[in-house]
Amino acid sequence: MSKPPKGPPRTAKAGTTPNGTAGTTPGAMAGPSGRNALRTKVKTAAKRSLSSARWLERQLNDPYVLASKADGYRSRAAYKLLEIDERFPLLVQGARILDLGAAPGGWTQVALAKIGDKGSILGVDILEMAPIPGAQLMQMDFLDDDAPDRIKAALNGSPTLVMSDMAAPTTGHKRTDHLRTMALCEVALELACDVLTPGGAFLAKVLQGGTERSLLEKLKKNFAEVRHVKPKASRAESSEMYVLAKGFRGQTPDPADSD
Ligand SMILES: C[S@@+](CC[C@H](N)C(=O)[O-])C[C@H]1O[C@@H](n2cnc3c(N)ncnc32)[C@H](O)[C@@H]1O
Repeated sequence: MSKPPKGPPRTAKAGTTPNGTAGTTPGAMAGPSGRNALRTKVKTAAKRSLSSARWLERQLNDPYVLASKADGYRSRAAYKLLEIDERFPLLVQGARILDLGAAPGGWTQVALAKIGDKGSILGVDILEMAPIPGAQLMQMDFLDDDAPDRIKAALNGSPTLVMSDMAAPTTGHKRTDHLRTMALCEVALELACDVLTPGGAFLAKVLQGGTERSLLEKLKKNFAEVRHVKPKASRAESSEMYVLAKGFRGQTPDPADSD
């Protein structure tokens, strides 16, 4: 963005975006009514299904999509992590990060710009990702039996942050979609508790309705602080939110090892 928008604080520091821009403030791109003054209409709407035309129109008019293009982020999701990090600092210099569900790479880009040369990041996704200089990327289904071992072998030291933006592909059946995404979060937490460095943090996408009791209990048992966050870039109509747990208490010894 050439002209700095007025309004709420920026979500990225000057020059830290992939395009070297000052960091767009997506909220400030909307008009006084909170909507873009010039709404783009889908010209090919007649040839599309109603849901596809609505999705495209929403994309074309979404301030976060527009900002991500201006700033060079691969996804609008980048602004969710920027906001969470601004409120609860996670992406510190030297951080070692495991980024689960990393494609197309917005979170990885945001993290890389903040962790400096001493930091490291391993991004994992079932989808292929174009390389991101400075990041290590692996393509795999995180639910495969050998995924945890492959990830552990690739890690560059014990991570200080495990973050998961994984979302299961939607089926249209709400309950199924909910269960699948929550299952991904549970498996991510399992791995986090296995690899995190003491004092480390876990950030994961959950769906409202919500963080199941067993998941919440495990989080509270293993971390000093647990909270839910709904960043502005997370669509208000979506049940998506994030659980953030800080202060990992360290691996609990396996009782079987005390024999
Ligand atoms: C919302 S997107 C992540 C966006 C990403 N944080 C960014 O900033 O670009 C969710 C990702 O989870 C990935 N995913 C879903 N199920 C997965 C699985 N079983 N194993 C690995 N990745 C998975 C999807 O392929 C998708 O890329």
